[in-house]
Amino acid sequence: MKGNVLFGVLCVLAAAVTACSSGKGKAQSQAPEFVLTYAENQAEDYPTTQGAYKFAELVRERTGGRIEIQVNAEAVLGDEKTVIEQLQFGGVDFARVSLSPLAEFVPKLNVLQMPYLYTGREHMWRVLEGPIGDDFMNSFDGSNLVALSWYDAGARSFYNTGRPIETLEDMRGLNIRVQESELMMDTIEALGATPVPTAFGDVYSGLQTGKIDGAENNWPSYESTRHYEVARYFTLDEHTRVPELQLAAQPTWDKLSPEYQDIIRECAQESAQYERQLWAAREKVSESIVRKAGCIVTELSPEEKARFQEAAAPMYEKYCSEYVDIIDAIMEAGDDGE
Ligand code: GCU
Repeated sequence: MKGNVLFGVLCVLAAAVTACSSGKGKAQSQAPEFVLTYAENQAEDYPTTQGAYKFAELVRERTGGRIEIQVNAEAVLGDEKTVIEQLQFGGVDFARVSLSPLAEFVPKLNVLQMPYLYTGREHMWRVLEGPIGDDFMNSFDGSNLVALSWYDAGARSFYNTGRPIETLEDMRGLNIRVQESELMMDTIEALGATPVPTAFGDVYSGLQTGKIDGAENNWPSYESTRHYEVARYFTLDEHTRVPELQLAAQPTWDKLSPEYQDIIRECAQESAQYERQLWAAREKVSESIVRKAGCIVTELSPEEKARFQEAAAPMYEKYCSEYVDIIDAIMEAGDDGE
């Protein structure tokens, strides 16, 4: 009996030694040199959060376990504005954020989220993946932030608790939640409604209590946050496409070797491709969930859409007068293919 037990113990030990010496357990066998935090404000199953997990997994694999990135979803590290501030001094190491709050820190980014700028998804991606997008990624100097890769966040449309928005006049008198962004506040005002800047996590209760009448977002956010349960009128006006960025904190970045920096950039890019695939699928699923739930989806007529567009046009003068050439180049990139 004793002999059998001893034999069993020896077998287990032998198996453990074999597992450790084969390449398989390598990543785990390395003690991490860096344990870094990643902030994400969406739910665990959301495409951007899944992109963050993919990023962390790739970085762990390619550094042999020397860099561990811990993803914190559901805004547990704070709302987006707070997270950007924390990134600037290295209190958070990585994050994925929307360009709207980010442009308050790097104002030139407003150019990429102007109302009615892109003709569609392909247009936006042509811009972001081409020389214009690269120039923007390289224009973070002095911000204490390092841009790593673009993430997709679709197009944003209005929704509200009271009635369908079919014309520009229907915007009047509505209190519409906006992101903490001056451009978004001005745009809502230009469209005739009253902007109420609010952190993303407070929108549901704002709709429920009547503090706000409506908000604006993409299909997956409208669905994932369950805003559709309280704000049942969705108007597919697609007034803006707001890209998103994966960022690193400059103080953290400076501690990493050039080799680690290259790996992180490469993994961020790959995670972005992954996120884009998940995004495209989730948009369809979310739209179908809210339609099935009985939400009233209104399409603006082309004439009305043109009126919305015209009303928002003064934003270009206020926010883009220094960047007319970039706006022209972006518009040119939309001329073909769509
Ligand atoms: C999108 C975006 C979030 C952002 C939110 C908002 O859902 O992905 O990062 O916080 O819009 O409207 O605030």
